Amino acid sequence: MFHSEIIGSGMYVPPGIITNHDLSKMMETSHDWIVQRSGIEERRWVTPDMVTTDLALHACEEAIKNAGIDKQEIDCLLFATISPDHDFPGSGCFLQPKLGLTGIPAIDVRQQCSGFVYAMSMADAFIKSGQYKTILIVGAEVHSKGLDKTTRGRDTAVLFGDGAGAIVMRRKEVKDPAKDSFIYSTHLFAEGQGAKDLWLEAPGMALGAERMNHEMIDAGKHYAYMNGKRVFTNAIRRMCECTLLALETNKLKLEDIDLFLFHQANMRINQMVAQELKIPEDKVFNTIQKYGNTTAATIPIGMAEAVKAGKLKKGSLVASAAFGSGFTWASSIFRW
Ligand SMILES: CC(C)(COP(=O)(O)OP(=O)(O)OC[C@H]1O[C@@H](n2cnc3c(N)ncnc32)[C@H](O)[C@@H]1OP(=O)(O)O)[C@@H](O)C(=O)NCCC(=O)NCCS
Repeated sequence: MFHSEIIGSGMYVPPGIITNHDLSKMMETSHDWIVQRSGIEERRWVTPDMVTTDLALHACEEAIKNAGIDKQEIDCLLFATISPDHDFPGSGCFLQPKLGLTGIPAIDVRQQCSGFVYAMSMADAFIKSGQYKTILIVGAEVHSKGLDKTTRGRDTAVLFGDGAGAIVMRRKEVKDPAKDSFIYSTHLFAEGQGAKDLWLEAPGMALGAERMNHEMIDAGKHYAYMNGKRVFTNAIRRMCECTLLALETNKLKLEDIDLFLFHQANMRINQMVAQELKIPEDKVFNTIQKYGNTTAATIPIGMAEAVKAGKLKKGSLVASAAFGSGFTWASSIFRW
């Protein structure tokens, strides 16, 4: 049977740094509140002329270069995002020509903060089935254009940032399962009962005769609503559960894992997951201080940054887990 291996990673964040102090000039908030509640010190925002696929393009180019492949070898493109350039077609279709590719399938994955791990799982299944051989996966978000930057929206506006991360996954013939680099497992979950605990209501076909009207805009229904406490407690519970399931499936112990790459929604969530699972702090790689929550881009940004920081090396055994809107959650174990 075929397996799949991650052969290159890349990332891109826009240069515009927005500090907590910058935010406190736009809304009633403070650096101390944001750091205490979330661990975030700054995030990146795009300029108005930039869109999600622009960020994705840079991340993909770096991933392709690091993978050492000719981009024409890519036979499938998976794009995880909740901030598409347009409602339709999917962002993959806008990215594909920017990459100079044509003909290959371009599939959007709509699983929010779990989107990248979902996309990795899909790529792994495509490769194992023999359908595709070299898959480019990108997670990219432009949140800054969709945040309510007034005091009304401060509970969410301070948490999210813009960015992109990408990997190339390729077919691998595994000779030594204990040593070779490949994706050991992926586990995917959803619980739609929590859909409205973190959602964007409008525009929507469910909203009567119109997708959107002035009243909806006045009420701020075109901004994300979040039940922060419910998301917080579910995130801890589900990330612990799916990490333990991944370990159990692969008959691994926590000590066998070299690096934990968790989704970055809130530093306190990751600290509590680490505490609950008894993971030493230096094995958890965090980027939230610098970038905030970049949703589908978070995990691949973490991969690319961990490589650059020398924390993720050839042969490292990695456990990754994410939780987000849906509710959706997912985990993966892979050898880099
Ligand atoms: C959003 C979150 C940081 C809020 O932290 P919290 O400890 O639950 O804070 P609360 O919601 O109880 O709010 C406490 C107070 O701070 C206020 N507050 C909210 N946002 C604020 C901000 N940015 N600045 C200052 N005060 C703020 C609230 O209005 C509330 O005031 P009140 O007590 O007068 O009513 C936290 O719930 C969280 O991280 N949730 C999960 C978020 C997440 O993971 N989202 C993405 C999932 S992928």
